Amino acid sequence: MEGNNNEAGRLAPPRHIAIIMDGNGRWAKKRGLPRTAGHKAGAETFRRIATYCKNIGVKYLTVYAFSTENWKRSETEVSAIMALLKKYLLEAVNTMERDHIRLHFFGDMTPISTELRALARETDEITEHLSASDFQANVCLNYGGRDEILRAARCFAADCAAGKRRPEELDEAVFSGYLDSKGIPDPELIIRPSGEQRLSNFLLWQCAYSELYYTDALWPDFDEAELDRAILAYQARDRRFGGVK
Ligand code: IPE
Ligand code: IPE
Ligand code: MG
Repeated sequence: MEGNNNEAGRLAPPRHIAIIMDGNGRWAKKRGLPRTAGHKAGAETFRRIATYCKNIGVKYLTVYAFSTENWKRSETEVSAIMALLKKYLLEAVNTMERDHIRLHFFGDMTPISTELRALARETDEITEHLSASDFQANVCLNYGGRDEILRAARCFAADCAAGKRRPEELDEAVFSGYLDSKGIPDPELIIRPSGEQRLSNFLLWQCAYSELYYTDALWPDFDEAELDRAILAYQARDRRFGGVK
């Protein structure tokens, strides 16, 4: 792992940005609207920011859309979020090939509706036909960092029981290969809008050396200028990875 600072001491722009899309409910409340209106606005922001990331040469954008804990919310709110995801996937099926956008899901899809899972499979198939160098959005749906680690551990244990692996083989690289993020480099930058300063179970394995950036903007208000500010702040950081410079 290297910080790759250039001569001016600035880091190269991040290749992988992860965002906790938070603040939709407060955005709606401020306007006297139902929380679901905030999620609708937040979905628009996601479209905009994904397009912007692609245009400025970011390779991977990972967004937290629905956590393993978000089922605690009302049935109305959960179904509104799932309906927005369905709408996004229906659009994606028709546009990702044209726009060269690869789409991938992180999370446990088993409790997700068969309709959404079928759409996710469809977008996976389209992604397979796109070039590996194309921009990739990773959507975290029913995702929890701890759940991802447990699922990976279970899979590794099952492979050991089946004689495909030996416990002594387990190292960081092997374990990473069992995670939802297999093959994808760790995010250099994790952004959380809405003023909260916590990870809320996001990318717990992958965040080991990520730079964290917080902003008070609520997700529906987050725009290109906000992302530019986050990237500039990142580029001014000093990444040491435990070493000394
Ligand atoms: C983030 O916005 C979206 C999801 C968690 C699905 P919130 O809905 O958490 O918005 P706030 O935090 O209540 O404002
Ligand atoms: C994190 O936001 C999950 C997503 C943005 C999908 P939450 O709003 O659920 O997190 P807490 O409850 O404030 O920690
Ligand atoms: Mg929230």
